Amino acid sequence: MSDQPSKTALILGASRGLGLGLAREYLSRGWRVIATARENASKLEDLAKGAKDKLRIERVDITDAKGLAALRKMLSGETLDLLFVNAGISGSIPKPLHEISPQEATHVYLTNTYYPIVAAEALADLVKAGGVFAFMSSRLASVAMNSYGQWETYRISKAGLNMGARSFFWRHPSHPVLSVAPGWVRTDMGGPKADFDVETSCRNVANAIEQHGDKPGHRFVNYDGAELPW
Ligand SMILES: NC(=O)c1ccc[n+]([C@@H]2O[C@H](COP(=O)([O-])OP(=O)(O)OC[C@H]3O[C@@H](n4cnc5c(N)ncnc54)[C@H](OP(=O)(O)O)[C@@H]3O)[C@@H](O)[C@H]2O)c1
Repeated sequence: MSDQPSKTALILGASRGLGLGLAREYLSRGWRVIATARENASKLEDLAKGAKDKLRIERVDITDAKGLAALRKMLSGETLDLLFVNAGISGSIPKPLHEISPQEATHVYLTNTYYPIVAAEALADLVKAGGVFAFMSSRLASVAMNSYGQWETYRISKAGLNMGARSFFWRHPSHPVLSVAPGWVRTDMGGPKADFDVETSCRNVANAIEQHGDKPGHRFVNYDGAELPW
């Protein structure tokens, strides 16, 4: 048995899908995990049953600034090795941008672009020196790889998140800041035809973070560890 204290990850948006999978993956690696849900935390509660005291469950909606401040207070005394902002929504994927309402576009941009950065900033002082900030991005965020156009609102939101993460990095230049693409994954968002199951994707994502999390800088990292074109 190692005497090393276990590392701690905070995962925002872990009630289901990739966030829940990441909580499970980091627990399996011996980490302590603080995982948040908006409302329904039943899957996290199930996971906690086999996790002894290694899983702490908290509540937050990342689009609630007061809730973020309350979470920061609740977590006083915690020291994070990894802060992973996973929460995100797809919005009206099939429709081109001009066919959705400004309200709907605003909702996607606020949830996927604005609030992930606001949330990371609200919690940033909990991350230890040299600790990792990860933002869940997507291959669809890459301007260079946009070869068929669709998923427009979502693409824009995640490309904006990548840019926000770059500016976030310049405010926190001693940290690795990673924009991570998990692959196309079978979740509620990814649907049943996607390439990867949650377990495989989360193992890959955790490996990619390990590979790129040892030095400061902002990188757009694929699930296989390759750096993606912006
Ligand atoms: N699946 C894919 O193929 C794929 C590919 C590339 C990137 N991604 C990204 O990976 C992340 C997770 O996606 P997923 O496939 O696991 O989707 P999902 O199954 O729909 O899960 C989304 C998660 O985000 C949470 N969430 C959404 N809005 C939130 C908010 N305002 N505050 C707090 N939590 C919120 C949800 O919580 P509730 O349960 O409360 O709704 C849920 O835990 C997203 O950022 C997504 O864009 C997914």
